[in-house]
Amino acid sequence: MAALSDDDFVGCTNREIFSRTYEKKLWGWSGTRKYYSGHGSHEREVVTGYVNALEHFLVGLAGPKIIVDLGCGDFNVGSRLVHLASKYIACDIVDGLLKENRKLFKYDNLEFKELDLVNDEIPMSDVIIVRQVLQHLSNNDIHKFIDKIHHRCKYLIVTEHLPIRSDFLPNIDKPSGPGFRVSFESGVILTEPPFNLLVLNSQVLCEFKERDGIIRTFAYRLQ
Ligand SMILES: C[S@@+](CC[C@H](N)C(=O)[O-])C[C@H]1O[C@@H](n2cnc3c(N)ncnc32)[C@H](O)[C@@H]1O
Repeated sequence: MAALSDDDFVGCTNREIFSRTYEKKLWGWSGTRKYYSGHGSHEREVVTGYVNALEHFLVGLAGPKIIVDLGCGDFNVGSRLVHLASKYIACDIVDGLLKENRKLFKYDNLEFKELDLVNDEIPMSDVIIVRQVLQHLSNNDIHKFIDKIHHRCKYLIVTEHLPIRSDFLPNIDKPSGPGFRVSFESGVILTEPPFNLLVLNSQVLCEFKERDGIIRTFAYRLQ
């Protein structure tokens, strides 16, 4: 059977799209788990480097921190950040994935929540993490997300899979689905048109070369 592409999901809800993405193992698989969020969620160098960079950033922020992780996936990455939060709310749109996560990861300060970051209300927090999620969404869905996060958090930490060349045209639209924009030499940059996210400052926390691109993490201080 030919691999499914974004075009095969046009007309489906995001819940259907990402449930089927996991069911059909379009992001790969591991021997031990039913749900697998892909290479970028498991590659040792990428995960360790990301966790170290976030640890450094979060420890530098004063006081207890409520963290909301949107599109938490199989939680191989998020599970390494829970100890840095006073409360960690890990959200995803795929119900079966959350059920598996609840069995595997149990901490007093951790809650798993079924939530659609495009349509549902986002809990108040100090830090929102969105790691390799927006890259799979259409510009319309990303717009809806941005419209909702005003005054919901102080910091937004976004990780995106981007082309290697730095002069790429950002934010070329695509349908929501398992693919991402690197296949047509684009990638999501929230501070660029048409999103124009307003930030007080931004910094790159870390970046890692992947086979076909760069996985880059931005920290935005929101207004
Ligand atoms: C590639 S995985 C990344 C998982 C995790 N953030 C990581 O870096 O390991 C993308 C995740 O985003 C979730 N997702 C996609 N659209 C979503 C939405 N509208 N609301 C919440 N989660 C969503 C998918 O179900 C999937 O688990």
